Amino acid sequence: MRIAFTKKRERNNKMGKNKKKKKKSVKEAQINIPRQFFKKIGIRPLVGPNEKRNLKMIEREISRRLGKDTLESFRVVFEPECDDTAFNFCHRSLPLVKVWYGDDINHLCRVAKELKDFEMLPNLKILDIGGGPGHLAFWMARIWNPLKVVVADQYSHIGAEWAQSLNEDRIEFIDSLLPDLKGISDEQFDTIIISRVLGNLEVLDLPTCYDEFNYIDYLKSDSGQFKIDFLRSIGHKLNELLTDDGHLIIADSWSDIRKVLIGGSFEKEGLYMNPDKFDPRRVGKEHSIVVFSKTPIVEPIPDLPLGLSAAENLPNQSYEFVGTSAETMRTFFSKGNILKDFEYYDSNDEDIIKFEIIEKVGLMLLYKVTNGGLKRAWIYPSIYYKKVINMLMEVTNEKIIEKGGRVTYRDDFFSLPN
Ligand SMILES: C[S@@+](CC[C@H](N)C(=O)[O-])C[C@H]1O[C@@H](n2cnc3c(N)ncnc32)[C@H](O)[C@@H]1O
Repeated sequence: MRIAFTKKRERNNKMGKNKKKKKKSVKEAQINIPRQFFKKIGIRPLVGPNEKRNLKMIEREISRRLGKDTLESFRVVFEPECDDTAFNFCHRSLPLVKVWYGDDINHLCRVAKELKDFEMLPNLKILDIGGGPGHLAFWMARIWNPLKVVVADQYSHIGAEWAQSLNEDRIEFIDSLLPDLKGISDEQFDTIIISRVLGNLEVLDLPTCYDEFNYIDYLKSDSGQFKIDFLRSIGHKLNELLTDDGHLIIADSWSDIRKVLIGGSFEKEGLYMNPDKFDPRRVGKEHSIVVFSKTPIVEPIPDLPLGLSAAENLPNQSYEFVGTSAETMRTFFSKGNILKDFEYYDSNDEDIIKFEIIEKVGLMLLYKVTNGGLKRAWIYPSIYYKKVINMLMEVTNEKIIEKGGRVTYRDDFFSLPN
């Protein structure tokens, strides 16, 4: 009996240990979920995952965490119509910072999730511009295992205190702001991240829409010119700070005109949108990332920012035009840039098929015509160029090859079988 009991106890102990191990690994895994991670570093979510921000919750939490006197001081400065008053008050100390981001948790988690989906090599040097007291830097340190993260903002005292409490020694804080970024000019970074800063910069005042009749008039207006100049000065600085094969990640709320303004200004400073590194379909009003590189990735496309902008309102599935309507679309694109044209022989249907891909002001036409006279056309935003090429490669079983920048069919497809 006694032996059996001991065995049972041993078995139970083992099971208990396994359970504990399992619990530990579940907990460990949960820390890679943004909401759990932020909770772990002291940011208690004040709203549910699908709830909107509610600044009233801040009052309740201030009272709970810091007492009635602090709540009274908050009420003196807080103006319900102005987010800034609450933001500034909540950046006076670490406990208040935790209250602020507890209320902002859903936006924060969305950015954190976008960053997690970005593939990053370990041991890189990262610069987080406008990184506040470091909350996202702690997340990046967790998911990317960088060599170091430098946070540039104006809360280095709070950031340093927070990092110390978390035993996180890979993060440096420096009081430095855009556009000059004084004090961080003597080194380069593999990744620069600017999350929810550009769209919030009061002096820049980025629009989500414009009054002018068309966007070109807007870009030429005083307001448009000011924004372009300001963004170019930022882009210039970022280019200096980024390594040649590095990436710049902008997380923000995007509109079609913001894509044109930011993308176009940065392009003039040698920073090009890199759709290999982000999904253009995800870029919209909800916070999402756009990635830039120093080398243009999608060579033949003349205006990628406009292409990304065109993606804003086009449906995910392209509309198909057939017959004369396809020819009409081809006529609309007749003065566009032919990005590729090629033919191939389809042995199933015994047809020669000719494809053209033509770009015009941010849109792209895929035109298909067969020797049997069938015409079809599809319209995409030009930023989908690589995706469309990949799709065609699959359709044509990679039977197309490139010759001098243009694609033509392989020699064995030149002649039709007898
Ligand atoms: C909405 S918070 C975003 C914080 C963090 N990046 C995030 O996504 O959670 C905006 C931050 O931009 C900072 N900021 C404001 N003006 C700035 C400037 N000129 N240069 C850099 N950061 C600035 C603010 O201090 C604030 O921390």
